[in-house]
Amino acid sequence: MSDYLGQLDSAPEPDPTVFDKIVNLSKRRGIAFQSADIYGGFRSTYDYGPIGVLLLRNVKDAWWRSMVQMRHDVVGLDAAILSPPAVWEASGHLANFTDPLVDCTNCKSRHRLDKLDDPNVCPTCGAIGKFTEPRDFNLMFKTQAGPVAGAGADCFLRPETAQGMFINFINIVNSTRKKPPFGIAQVGKSFRNEITPGNFVFRTREFEQMEMEFFVPPAEADEWYRYWCETRFQWYLDHGMPRELIRLRPHDADELSHYSSGTSDVEFLFPWGWDELEGIANRGDYDLTQHQNHSGEKLEYYDQAANERYLPHVIEPAAGATRTAFAFLIAAYDEVEVKGETRTVLRLHHRIAPYKAAVLPLSKKPELTGPALELLAALQPHFMCDYDETQSIGKRYARQDEIGTPYCITFDFDSLEDRAVTIRERDSMAQERISIDGVVRYLQDRMA
Ligand code: GAP
Repeated sequence: MSDYLGQLDSAPEPDPTVFDKIVNLSKRRGIAFQSADIYGGFRSTYDYGPIGVLLLRNVKDAWWRSMVQMRHDVVGLDAAILSPPAVWEASGHLANFTDPLVDCTNCKSRHRLDKLDDPNVCPTCGAIGKFTEPRDFNLMFKTQAGPVAGAGADCFLRPETAQGMFINFINIVNSTRKKPPFGIAQVGKSFRNEITPGNFVFRTREFEQMEMEFFVPPAEADEWYRYWCETRFQWYLDHGMPRELIRLRPHDADELSHYSSGTSDVEFLFPWGWDELEGIANRGDYDLTQHQNHSGEKLEYYDQAANERYLPHVIEPAAGATRTAFAFLIAAYDEVEVKGETRTVLRLHHRIAPYKAAVLPLSKKPELTGPALELLAALQPHFMCDYDETQSIGKRYARQDEIGTPYCITFDFDSLEDRAVTIRERDSMAQERISIDGVVRYLQDRMA
């Protein structure tokens, strides 16, 4: 692995105050709200508001674009969220997808043993040596399908999207004629009954994943593992993640799952320190072997040219969409002083920014709002745009900076005469006068 994927010496000290600023901004500007807020809130679940839904969609679209649209060797899938116990029996989740849980007998709080700073001290009440014996707590949400209760009706909300790709491997080979090396990609919700959710949307019980299973001839597995580590790391840089805020950390031997011959995490410098955004794992043929044995269906690939059958090995880049959106927000957060006032600017990459442009008529007079709305209508087929005609132009620029809009387009009284508008760029604050007919092209050139 090349050295440049490690932690840079120039990594800054994390700023813990950014966490509260992002949480406040999220509520104030409609990025994420505590779910069931009016009922006192449902702990650790969040509803993505008008800005958050765009941000999250852009993260998922950027991933899909790189992982599916821009490749000839990866196809997509949207598998069911509800699945029968047999899938999770085979995958090992029923037996092993557990966290060690301890209860404090003093204050009754519950903790994950492996996440405690000191395994003898309760972080809630400070009691020493008051924990129960650890017990394994399965993280899957169990429910029932249909009106009749009983073992046959049991099913689970998927705790990862990955198994959908393994159980459809043969369906996809037969329906697409793809041959290894090729991948199956999926974006969607997963559910885990986390013992200690927290840190805003970092760890929640309902979250979104972006996973891809890349099936390869066994002899090529190591090479593809290195390829996906570097490719996935580069994806974050390509979408504006500062190099000093991410690193690729290979797992130590004692961290590896028994079937994995290599796993590396892309980590981000969160306000509380380095933590995982994505894991890239060389999973061998573990998953296909398990499903083949449990289902009784042959899942081997038949290589006609070589006249041989084999179970492909799998390289899995598994990222969290909600967690990545949060990391992009933290990385983009900046403050500037304007006339003695501190203002927030989200320096988001244009592909991640919720709105690409905002159309701002200088006054609310119909002679300006009419043509400004016409300009908005001309931009909307190409870009997600905002429109704002309230308050002073300076305040409106500030409001757009705060949600990361890369371009503001002001329609003023001169625009009626010269058929041109002023375009202001978020980071440089530079302004240019552009012909109205050329605005789509101007933005396309800068956001290709
Ligand atoms: N199929 C492999 C797998 O699911 P994982 O490391 O458990 O691997 C992949 O999950 C990614 O999903 C993590 O790197 C993280 O970004 C995200 N993720 C996992 N649990 C999460 C949670 N409770 N809340 C938010 N994101 C989570």
